[in-house]
Amino acid sequence: MEFFESDYFHYRNNKLYCEDLSVQELVETVDSPAYIYSKKYFTDKYKEFDEAFRKIKHKIFFACKSNFNLSVIKTFVNLGSGVDVNSEGELLRALKAGANPQNLIMSGVGKTPEEIKLAIEKDLLMIKAESEEEIFWINKIALSLNKTARVALRVNPDVDAHTHPYISTGLAENKFGVDTETAMKLFRKQNDLKNIKFTGIDMHIGSQIIKIEPFVEAANKLSELILQLKSEGIVLEHLDMGGGVGSTYNNEKTFEINDFAKSLLPIFQKMDCDVFFEPGRYLTANGGILVTKVLYNKNNHDKNFIIVDSAMNDLLRPSIYSAYHHIQPIILKNDRKNIVADIVGPVCESGDFFAKKREISESIQGEYLAIMSAGAYGMTMASNYNSRRRPIEILVDRDKYKIIRSRETFDHLFFDEPELI
Ligand SMILES: Cc1ncc(COP(=O)(O)O)c(C=O)c1O
Repeated sequence: MEFFESDYFHYRNNKLYCEDLSVQELVETVDSPAYIYSKKYFTDKYKEFDEAFRKIKHKIFFACKSNFNLSVIKTFVNLGSGVDVNSEGELLRALKAGANPQNLIMSGVGKTPEEIKLAIEKDLLMIKAESEEEIFWINKIALSLNKTARVALRVNPDVDAHTHPYISTGLAENKFGVDTETAMKLFRKQNDLKNIKFTGIDMHIGSQIIKIEPFVEAANKLSELILQLKSEGIVLEHLDMGGGVGSTYNNEKTFEINDFAKSLLPIFQKMDCDVFFEPGRYLTANGGILVTKVLYNKNNHDKNFIIVDSAMNDLLRPSIYSAYHHIQPIILKNDRKNIVADIVGPVCESGDFFAKKREISESIQGEYLAIMSAGAYGMTMASNYNSRRRPIEILVDRDKYKIIRSRETFDHLFFDEPELI
């Protein structure tokens, strides 16, 4: 079987470590299922990204939808990152994590009036509008607050990101953004929109993109718009490239962030404006694992099943995207033979699996497995399906750890239903 190792999660004497902490010792203390994150991974990835674009005026806004734990957001904020939020809840989380509103930007194809109002009241750096109707709402709400809202228009560049259809967002058929003609028409209405200041163009063409070309194609299209608008006297302050940079989960060959920068810099250098990025997955995916305990082994009609104590409600990606995650024992034992098994959770759905027909070494009840690359879109997509409590979250910093979210209690589950009728 194959193992996934990195500078952040690696084996020492056959024991999996997160940084300098044994995962076995940690999970024996905090119990499973447990999300375990490496602070050094988050820090290194942020710095790499930032450094790659040092030659231009740029800013990174961590897309906290990938991992919205307050301490994770704070880790990025402390490094100087802004935060991209996609809802009122994420906005409140970013503020609670200590982000300055001037370092916050708000996305969302369907913002409610309440969300728009909060963003304007808090003086966010900008709101990314995605339709003509939304623009008029923003203008109206800003007028009622006697404020000017800073707004970028999300343009759908109609570029194929060659990723999973559910996370492809930059094609004409997708619900996101406005087409280029509508964008130009709206920008030209700037003078009629007294309570809006258009500050930029924004895009986000999808997630888990492993080729540079779609970004280059989209950046070329949008930089042309910026230059066209400039020639008409409409000067924008920034181009927001969105997120989408892919991570290695299995054996995908992703690109180096320096090559990404090298391909894009010539385009950016032609425009006289700042460049924003909203990476999520790139900063978090391989910075986390989900540790789960083997509950049962069984063999049905010659098929092996390993039933573990975490489920699709804890990590949804395999169920909804058929996503691949390496799964490996946290203690390697030389005397074990490899088997082919489905690794599944206790939830009452056949879609509740982490891997199918996976080669894995035999494990015994009570042993722990690590589901790798679980730092992005893991806990943020977790639910209470089957009335299961969501996992604990741990942040490791060298040989120390902090519980950054405790395991839900059963009281949590009943919190919103105080009365029986
Ligand atoms: C608007 C926007 N920005 C940024 C991101 C982050 O994408 P990723 O995690 O692929 O970098 C997303 C993800 O859906 C998004 O919708």
